[in-house]
Amino acid sequence: MISLENKIKKIWDAYILALTIVSAIEVPARLVMNYPLSGALLILDYMVSVSFLIDVVLNFLSEHIIKGKIVRSFGSVSRGYLKGWFLIDFLSAVPFDLLTGGSFVALNRLLRLFRLLRLLRLARLAQFMSKLGANQAINPVLLRLFFFIFWLGMMAHWMGCGWIALGGCPNHEGIHQYVRALYWAVTSLTTVGYGDITPADTPQTIYAMLIEIIGAGMYGYVIGNVASLLANIDVAKAHFSEKLEQVNAFLKYREIPADLQTRVRSYYDYLWESRLGYDESSVVEDLPPSLKIEISMHLNRDIIEKVPLFKGATDEFIRDIVSVLKAHVFTPGDFIVRKGELGDEMYFISRGSVEVVSENGEQVFATLQDGSYFGEIALINREPRTASIRARNYCDVYTLSRDVLEHVLQKFPEIAEQLRTLAEQRIRELQQ
Ligand code: CMP
Repeated sequence: MISLENKIKKIWDAYILALTIVSAIEVPARLVMNYPLSGALLILDYMVSVSFLIDVVLNFLSEHIIKGKIVRSFGSVSRGYLKGWFLIDFLSAVPFDLLTGGSFVALNRLLRLFRLLRLLRLARLAQFMSKLGANQAINPVLLRLFFFIFWLGMMAHWMGCGWIALGGCPNHEGIHQYVRALYWAVTSLTTVGYGDITPADTPQTIYAMLIEIIGAGMYGYVIGNVASLLANIDVAKAHFSEKLEQVNAFLKYREIPADLQTRVRSYYDYLWESRLGYDESSVVEDLPPSLKIEISMHLNRDIIEKVPLFKGATDEFIRDIVSVLKAHVFTPGDFIVRKGELGDEMYFISRGSVEVVSENGEQVFATLQDGSYFGEIALINREPRTASIRARNYCDVYTLSRDVLEHVLQKFPEIAEQLRTLAEQRIRELQQ
């Protein structure tokens, strides 16, 4: 049996799909315009029939997914195929054109209609499209837009062919006739309807009315869907813009001073640039614990690499810490910690820099960069904050709560020792 993962089979499926699309365009066109089957067209027709027949055989020999289960045995595959797609696949492989060479005219016409059976294979295309839609690597909105345009084009083609079949463009021949009919189909489908091509008899009038009704429905669909499809091509951007609009409306409504408004906006600009506006912790929150840790490890890997305290730490320590770190952003000039306050968290700087300053902010004792941490003294010594901390620029920091820190330090005494040593050194520097 041919495996579902077989690369050659996948290429073969793509080839069959391409032939299906070509047939869906060519078969109706030939049926209504009656051009002779010769030269390259004859070769194409042979190719389609032979390929479709080989495909029928291959389908008996390939693994299938039936109701979500992979079916591998020949017996079950054959039974499933015979009950399902076999008839359509087989009939679409029969070269009715070649078979009806010189038979009775009436029978010939009827049999030629059987060519249209090839169109049935397009149902396979719809199946393939929904499979592609499940593939996360492709932007689903762009894919929907592409399918939409594809089906629209296909429908316009078929409707144009229908118009020719009803004798819609009597003064034109060949390709000119086709282009006129296609033009009529597109103007009717899009409800533009210039009225330069009009129905001449009752069948044409009924057909035109049908197309107009379908066109009106489709026009509604286009207006309703394409605008939202386009707006959602970049989902993250769409969400973020919506949030920004709400914030802007609020700032205006509450008459927030202009400079404060500017700060709020530049904060959102930073959020967009640094993380596309996502609140990482709320995204991670919905995941099961094991995945949550894996994702946190990945998201917080820069902080793990940057903080010297974590460098020599065991995997277990890092796993314990990463999943409980919480991300925050501070804007330039923000006081992250105020001297004398009671603190419940310590901070790790992932990006940006902060200043250790006096209570009024005038005296700067030290500057801390990416990879440093602060706020540990209040937690270790159980005392108020020894200094204030002010952000120098946009800062991405991660916080660790007191409870978690105490728990983790009990488990890892060497790290606790390192923290204590630096805290003592900092206190000494402050006193100096
Ligand atoms: P905490 O006292 O909790 O809050 C203020 C923080 O500033 C303090 O913890 C230290 O992490 C940090 N800090 C204090 N003094 C210094 C210093 N001299 N150098 C670097 N950081 C300091």
